[in-house]
Amino acid sequence: MERAVILVGTETGTAEDVADDLLEAITGAGMEAEILDMEEARSDAFDGSRAVVICTATTGDGELPENSIDLFEVLEDEKPDLSGVVFGVCALGDDHYEDFCQAGKDWSALLQELGAKEIIDRFEIDGFPEDEDIDGAKEWVGQAAGKFTGLVREG
Ligand SMILES: Cc1cc2nc3c(=O)[nH]c(=O)nc-3n(C[C@H](O)[C@H](O)[C@H](O)COP(=O)(O)O)c2cc1C
Repeated sequence: MERAVILVGTETGTAEDVADDLLEAITGAGMEAEILDMEEARSDAFDGSRAVVICTATTGDGELPENSIDLFEVLEDEKPDLSGVVFGVCALGDDHYEDFCQAGKDWSALLQELGAKEIIDRFEIDGFPEDEDIDGAKEWVGQAAGKFTGLVREG
């Protein structure tokens, strides 16, 4: 079965709730998946055996949530070759802030720089997720699952 990991970057828990919905939808689309708090994740989450879904909020002035900083910096420092990795980004933010969804954009840029392939346009949620945002996120991850299928090697 195709596998995915949903990596969550959150400050106050909203992205965790969105990740639960993404998990429901991606498993419904036939993938085996789990959610990992970025705090608990290691760079081997990007070993190519699983598609990666980044689900992250932005905090401060366009900053990464605290729980995701170590993982981001390890990848920045170690610069692993991620050319076997496919990913998508679901970014939570608020467009009242100048740097809208900046953490999601930073993840897109870093993973691409390391060779990973972003196989679907970033999905952005503006403000506290309403039902329509959750529906959109689920549809988005369902489309991502379709694209992941066949691209992720069996792990
Ligand atoms: C102190 C603070 C700073 C924020 N800074 C930004 C920001 O720079 N850019 C942005 O798009 N959203 C920003 N947001 C909005 C959050 O990303 C958004 O509310 C998100 O849903 C929170 O998710 P979380 O509960 O998982 O942390 C900020 C929110 C707070 C409370």
